[in-house]
Amino acid sequence: MLGDGGTFPEPMDFPAAGADGKASIAFIQGQVIRHHQRFRASIPLIASENLISPRAAEMFATDLHNRYAEGLPGSRYYEGNVDYDPIETHVEDLAKRLFNCSFADVRPVSGTAANISALFSLGDAGDKFMAPELSAGAHISTQRFGAAGLRGFTTITYPSIPETMSIDTEVAAEAIRVEKPRICYFGQSVFLFPSDLEPLIEAAREVGASVMYDAAHVLGLIAGGCFQDPLGDGVDLVTASTHKTFAGPQHGIILGNDDVKLPDGMMLHKRVRSRVFPGVHSNHHLHKVAALGISLAEALEFQADYAIATIANAKVLAEGLWSRGMKVFAPDHGFTESHTILVDVQEFGGGAEVSLRAEAQGLVMNKNMLPGDTSAISPSGIRLGTPEMTRIGMGGDEMDEVADLIHLAAIGGKGSEVRGRALELKKRFFTVEYCWPTGAGAYDNPIFSPLD
Ligand SMILES: Cc1ncc(COP(=O)(O)O)c(C=O)c1O
Repeated sequence: MLGDGGTFPEPMDFPAAGADGKASIAFIQGQVIRHHQRFRASIPLIASENLISPRAAEMFATDLHNRYAEGLPGSRYYEGNVDYDPIETHVEDLAKRLFNCSFADVRPVSGTAANISALFSLGDAGDKFMAPELSAGAHISTQRFGAAGLRGFTTITYPSIPETMSIDTEVAAEAIRVEKPRICYFGQSVFLFPSDLEPLIEAAREVGASVMYDAAHVLGLIAGGCFQDPLGDGVDLVTASTHKTFAGPQHGIILGNDDVKLPDGMMLHKRVRSRVFPGVHSNHHLHKVAALGISLAEALEFQADYAIATIANAKVLAEGLWSRGMKVFAPDHGFTESHTILVDVQEFGGGAEVSLRAEAQGLVMNKNMLPGDTSAISPSGIRLGTPEMTRIGMGGDEMDEVADLIHLAAIGGKGSEVRGRALELKKRFFTVEYCWPTGAGAYDNPIFSPLD
């Protein structure tokens, strides 16, 4: 299908559900089609989102979706997995090959579920757990009021450098020596620059702490060899979502090596197996494991090129905004070494106002806290990411056009002009790249069975 760019639907009301089931089905189907139309006509700039390949997505509608497979291949609590079990083992092999490690668990259903499984593999409720600060880009689930804190871990944060939103290595290493946590966690949701892991791991080892690295945002960059190599640097476990810079299904993964012993003498990979199930999960969504396998196989072929292009695009986008006078974060450090950039838009009304205005004009992004901000609801920044734009084949020229549109939207330029130009640009990009083609396009309208 050629990229007609679609239309740009106006938002709908929120009708209450009534007794007429068919009316509800028609409403939901209609909204999903509107959603597709909107994304077909918009520039996608959310740093944590991406497009799965059409071939991997084919797995979502298979019978695997209907099945249970508690336990491990060959040792299940349910029958019916004779054909599925070799798939799961194969998907783990693909992950070990791509990430150059000897242990992979592909059962966590999300990054957060992978993190909770890893936390209880490395420690117990009541233990001290050290993580980056929220204002330094930490994921909210690592904090006192998030998944870690609510499960009884005492969260302490590393000191950070406000200019780069990264961990202040020397001071943090000292803090690790003083606090003596059971677990040192690294990884961020605003992950502009790699963490300087070696001295931090050294400090952790001195006090007997285990080390985990949450690669949710940067898994695809790591797979492409473009960010850092946490397992090579010596962390015990890498956890991740599999749908951000790694453009797979909405799922999770845990990676490590099979020769790591816990202080109590147990092998870490065995502990992880029991913490994933029955510790945190029951079923683990078999259709998504199959889809992950296809995404991993594609990544073995395409990920290096994709990761390089994603980071290059982020740098061009940052330059484009900076040259138009926008306050891109970390100018003295080259803005970013990842897929993400941050922009201070306080002068244009703040992150909440700018991101809402931009959405109405066909630019989808999110508001974000900057160092010094106290409110996540009305922060001064916006976060922009290049994974999805790169995935549909955009390059440097398009990043400069996108920078112009973001600038216009921020300064309150004419909505219709920005929207029209966004539509024109998007019309030319309607295929998912960095995978083997199927003929299906990005944002194709779903085909629903008629009701009558
Ligand atoms: C660093 C980090 N960890 C974990 C998560 C949670 O991932 P999921 O949505 O797969 O649970 C996110 C989500 O954005 C994240 O940025």
